[in-house]
Amino acid sequence: MEASTIGIFDSGYGGLTVFRSIADKLPDYNYIYLGDNARSPYGDHAFDTIYKYTLECVEWLFAKGCHLVILACNTASAKALRTIQQRDLPAKYPDRRVLGVIRPTAEVIGGYTSTKQVGVMGTRGTVNSQSYLLEINKFFPDIQVFQQSCPMWVPLIENNEHLEPGADFFIEEYCSALLQQSADIDCVLLACTHYPLLMPKLKRVFPDHINILTQGEIVAERLLDYLERHPEIAEKLVKQKERHFYTSGDPAVFDEHASVFFGETLKSDKM
Ligand code: DGL
Repeated sequence: MEASTIGIFDSGYGGLTVFRSIADKLPDYNYIYLGDNARSPYGDHAFDTIYKYTLECVEWLFAKGCHLVILACNTASAKALRTIQQRDLPAKYPDRRVLGVIRPTAEVIGGYTSTKQVGVMGTRGTVNSQSYLLEINKFFPDIQVFQQSCPMWVPLIENNEHLEPGADFFIEEYCSALLQQSADIDCVLLACTHYPLLMPKLKRVFPDHINILTQGEIVAERLLDYLERHPEIAEKLVKQKERHFYTSGDPAVFDEHASVFFGETLKSDKM
């Protein structure tokens, strides 16, 4: 049987917040993380572009020996996952699997709201795709979803300006725009893997009764469940605790910024 690794893909650094939770929950597996930093952010790109970039990166991870790839990026999950799953995998890679972060989140979100009014904050790409509206509706048709795109947040975070006072304007602007859509929102999903880094400020801006939800633990929990239900994938995966990090950008720059997202220093290589 061909030995295999779990691939984790993001447009850049954000997926490291998801990888952190996956590595904590499933520490024994071998992992390859790929950040497409040279072409990020993805948030404002057209559908075709995001699909093309994501497929290229997934195929690169396949060539590195990954049979299972997690798109730890909402924008890529929203814009590219369905086409990859429905067209590319059956045609070219029938024994490989690619999973995203939207469905696992939609499956459990009902447990985090009492008012059944949920806010979703994401990139323009994620919000415009309507993916969360559609997916949440499948599992919880009684939940009303209010979306807010936050195009300035990823640039602020990538430039390490997010905790500076100058960031407050854009944080308050998007949060109040979301709350203006409904006074009964009691759960706000951070539907971009970068946004957990804003948590200290978001906790100050949102009223205490609002549950601010990040995806890392949810995705890690659902991955564990997936591997239990799919032994044909799980039994191929090597458990030697190896982790490799690759970036399409400059590895020195990646290493400098990555620790803020991953919570420990790391050493990357060029893709
Ligand atoms: N972190 C990515 C997401 O979850 C978006 C960042 C980007 O725009 O590239 O949507």
